[in-house]
Amino acid sequence: MSEKVVKIGLIGFGTVGGGVCGLIEKQEELLKQRSGVTFEVVKVAMRDLSKKRDLELDPEKLTTDWQDVVNHSEVEVVVELIGGTTVAFDVVATALKLGKPVVTGNKALLAERGKEIFALSKQYDAPVYFEAAVAGGIPIIKSLKEAFVSNSLVNLAGIINGTCNYILERMTEAGLSYDAALKEAMELGYAEADPTLDINGWDAGHKAILLGAVGYGFLPSHKEVYVTGIESVKLEDIKLADSLGYSIKLVSVVKPSSEGVIEIRTQPSLIPKSHLLAKVDGVFNAVSLSGDAVGNSFFYGRGAGAGPTATAVVADLVDAALGSKAFLPYDESSYSVAPIEQTETAYFIRLDVKDEPGVMAKITSILGDKGISFSGTHSSVDPNAPDAEMKDVSFITHKAPFGKLQDALLALESLDCITAKPTVYRVESFS
Ligand SMILES: NC(=O)c1ccc[n+]([C@@H]2O[C@H](COP(=O)([O-])OP(=O)(O)OC[C@H]3O[C@@H](n4cnc5c(N)ncnc54)[C@H](OP(=O)(O)O)[C@@H]3O)[C@@H](O)[C@H]2O)c1
Repeated sequence: MSEKVVKIGLIGFGTVGGGVCGLIEKQEELLKQRSGVTFEVVKVAMRDLSKKRDLELDPEKLTTDWQDVVNHSEVEVVVELIGGTTVAFDVVATALKLGKPVVTGNKALLAERGKEIFALSKQYDAPVYFEAAVAGGIPIIKSLKEAFVSNSLVNLAGIINGTCNYILERMTEAGLSYDAALKEAMELGYAEADPTLDINGWDAGHKAILLGAVGYGFLPSHKEVYVTGIESVKLEDIKLADSLGYSIKLVSVVKPSSEGVIEIRTQPSLIPKSHLLAKVDGVFNAVSLSGDAVGNSFFYGRGAGAGPTATAVVADLVDAALGSKAFLPYDESSYSVAPIEQTETAYFIRLDVKDEPGVMAKITSILGDKGISFSGTHSSVDPNAPDAEMKDVSFITHKAPFGKLQDALLALESLDCITAKPTVYRVESFS
């Protein structure tokens, strides 16, 4: 195998940047044997040069100015690992305009400004690799792009935010409230000091956009996709779902809903406990997909952390060094995103009610008017006190368009016998 030395410049020397330098150093021989490539880190940018780091680098190589890295005459590949959508955009755009390939783990940047970035990539014939941006150590981008290149994607559902999965699992297994589980995740370093993008669902939402892009060849705008977070998931809903045979998980769904129309949504949903996704615990990630020829496939692994994420970045570096083809959107005019009102699932609904005659009749009448029927009801009756006041009623509907459900919920909310805003979750069937 011919051998080559590829000189890289790193912007960002935090969790992932440090992990990449460490992995390249540790596996230098293995990388050379397997790919014929040796990486040399030429220049590294960070904000604070005085910060104590796990890995020591030659001080001559360090800078606080990213331009020193991108414009360095010897840097052949630029690795962006600072996060965010402003400076990171300038870093990536500048590198591409110089014709330098870029490796990034920045899902927010690509989901929100991907159109500009991929246009520059095409214009300057400089590839952008982003395996680390989705599900850390799970090679899902490569699998969709290469292993499943011959398959039409029939269905994809993923648990792609480890922080949310940890919080929901701790609520389920330890009976913690949402606030207590979030606090624990932060203390253990599973949630950022500012966990907003995790818990409001947008970290997963950004990744779902990229999965949609690689799966279907078009890059939807982040304004078109539907995202809800886990902030309002209540312990009582988790217990109720559990008693009905479901787990509540933050699920991202990417699938065709009709010819040329793709459903892309992220929300806490009920999934049957028998499905593999329901068994994904803690900070782990998983993607379940179905291709028209391959059938069902399931990917499971660590979605974050220095080692798993650096593994993805280094795989991209090898691709960049060997000149492997990167993803570019190719089918921009053929697809659109399904309006959320038209997307169909079953739903779990819980209503706080006044215990008075005719409550159920009023509820079923409103749902019936909107064409929504239900497959089962559940009301918590204590066998030792069958006369006790009914406080809530919950049920699972048959599949219905989300728009019709929203209309029904508005009508239900206006009833005197409904005492609080209805609680609703989608019920995913994966069939
Ligand atoms: N952490 C993960 O497990 C993970 C997983 C998948 C994807 N990612 C993505 O990877 C990227 C990096 O994440 P991370 O966890 O490594 O972040 P991090 O630990 O916060 O590190 C960010 C690094 O960027 C540097 N930096 C920030 N702004 C800069 C600027 N304007 N100029 C120069 N350097 C700057 C920081 O410098 P200082 O060190 O001096 O502060 C730090 O070294 C993000 O896009 C993230 O979404 C992370």
